[in-house]
Amino acid sequence: MMNNTTGSYPFDTLRKEQRHQELNRLERKAAFFSELEKEKWVQAGLKSGMKALDLGCGAGFTSCEIAKITYPGTVIGVDFSEAMLEKAMEVKKSKGITNLNLELVNVYQLNFPDNYFDFIHARFFFQHLTNPIVAINNIYRVLKPGGIFCVFDVDNDWFTIYPKPESLTKLAQKISAIQQAQGGDGYVGRKLWSYFKKAGFSKIETQVEVITSDKFGLKTILNLLSFGSPYYSQYQDLAIFAERAKKDTYSLIDVADAWAGFGIFMVTGCKPNAVLIPNPVKIEPF
Ligand SMILES: C[S@@+](CC[C@H](N)C(=O)[O-])C[C@H]1O[C@@H](n2cnc3c(N)ncnc32)[C@H](O)[C@@H]1O
Repeated sequence: MMNNTTGSYPFDTLRKEQRHQELNRLERKAAFFSELEKEKWVQAGLKSGMKALDLGCGAGFTSCEIAKITYPGTVIGVDFSEAMLEKAMEVKKSKGITNLNLELVNVYQLNFPDNYFDFIHARFFFQHLTNPIVAINNIYRVLKPGGIFCVFDVDNDWFTIYPKPESLTKLAQKISAIQQAQGGDGYVGRKLWSYFKKAGFSKIETQVEVITSDKFGLKTILNLLSFGSPYYSQYQDLAIFAERAKKDTYSLIDVADAWAGFGIFMVTGCKPNAVLIPNPVKIEPF
């Protein structure tokens, strides 16, 4: 099933318990990367007073962190999933965040004025887009000249584990195929630089942060993986297969020399300031 505007993150299809588990995973992921991400945002230029947009904000875990930095500036978190935004409202309230607004918006109909935001952020979002070029052109339009765009995302080739259970290899292939069939791209990390370039961004910088089990422990790394969870309601056989792959993979925690690592792509770019072209000096006709 491929749809130009819905992409490959079918959260709304999940049943109550599956949603709950997926939200827990997103929360763990947000907490795990929080310090690293804050450092990158500030390095990229995020500061107090800015007007920021968090695209595909999901349950708003990261939008709240951006809002703390921009305060008294404002953040708008947008997502096309009503269920996600409901959760984001709860999260915002529980954290006492007052400068975050949440809106139901699809990136393909980004109804903000031109040159509106100082900072735009998109996390684990581009991998789910069918039309990343349309999306990034929209993002470029609503960013102020001099504004910053910051993306965090994955590239499936940057995950590795040793020893690798056969069931995990098969599961990864199935998930990639499903994501692709729904218009997404689990290999988006390597393409982000080119998307930024095509849209017209300058000062583009890509960093890949490598997260390893020797630093964080194998269990922590495995707890960040989805094992295909967004698709369990649509493909029940996937959910059953994933249980086996999970069991095989988690059993590696007891294997003394097992190792895993993955890379997170962090790409930032700047919308160039308008170039002033001086009026040509008038000369007398020949
Ligand atoms: C994997 S979740 C990431 C959520 C959040 N950024 C985070 O890191 O926790 C991807 C989010 O993007 C949203 N999304 C996907 N395609 C979208 C689109 N075209 N417009 C708006 N939101 C979209 C989904 O509903 C989902 O909440």
